[in-house]
Amino acid sequence: MIIETRSLHKAYGKHTALRDVSIGVRPGTTLGIVGESGSGKSTVARLMAGLERPTSGEVLLDGVPLPKRGRALRAARRRLGFVFQDPYASLDPRFTLEQIVGEPLRAHGLWQDGGRDRVDELLRAVGMGGIDPRSRAGEFSGGQRQRLCVARAIATRPHLVICDEPTSALDVSVQAQILNLLLDLQESLGVSYVLISHDIDVVRRMSDDIVVMRSGEVRESGPCTEVLADPRDEYTRTLLDAMPGRRGQEIR
Ligand SMILES: Nc1ncnc2c1ncn2[C@@H]1O[C@H](COP(=O)(O)OP(=O)(O)OP(=O)(O)O)[C@@H](O)[C@H]1O
Ligand SMILES: [Mg+2]
Repeated sequence: MIIETRSLHKAYGKHTALRDVSIGVRPGTTLGIVGESGSGKSTVARLMAGLERPTSGEVLLDGVPLPKRGRALRAARRRLGFVFQDPYASLDPRFTLEQIVGEPLRAHGLWQDGGRDRVDELLRAVGMGGIDPRSRAGEFSGGQRQRLCVARAIATRPHLVICDEPTSALDVSVQAQILNLLLDLQESLGVSYVLISHDIDVVRRMSDDIVVMRSGEVRESGPCTEVLADPRDEYTRTLLDAMPGRRGQEIR
């Protein structure tokens, strides 16, 4: 497994946000996480990323427990990338493309080692080659900003990118482009994804495996096609019926 959680518990005061969550992502594959609002999806993502510590349980990255703090944690984080929901909130519009995409390289002390060329390469990889890296993020559309977020997420060549609702703030037409970009990058880089989404069509299209969460617990998990075709859990069935895109058109 690229990343694995073992019996994760997370409490915020008296409120239990996660209970006994054990999930894993196989190399080169995508794990989709679905569940209603407040079910704990983003909390799992934050714990996987080492942005917060579990109350108990552990996260293994490439089979090794994620360091709890300090330098070792920073070094481990180099093997992880993140894409969040809202590219308007996660990018400072005053920053240049080079500053944004190069930020993880600088943070991990890799800028000296051909950072500028790497930025060009990353911009090309996300379909923004030929754009002046000195332009400011504020000049670009939501879809292009999310491409920049993707470029930034893969800058340090992570094995795993955690995408928390990467397309839900975007126009439908742009959503498919970003998903295609993620799929293309998976093919060319062999990167694994954790993909959190409310949209069942997105998950169906992107994921090899799926985890269904409710109230901080895993209700069901397994190969995506099997779980979606024949959900064993009553809650999964209800969720699938209630989810947007259930009867909608396939994306693409
Ligand atoms: N920092 C925090 N302090 C207190 N409670 C929190 C905190 N973060 C999350 N929670 C609670 O933990 C639970 C899980 O939240 P989480 O954000 O993981 O849900 P989610 O599945 O990502 O929801 P959404 O689909 O709305 O993004 C919720 O009840 C939430 O209120
Ligand atoms: Mg969330």
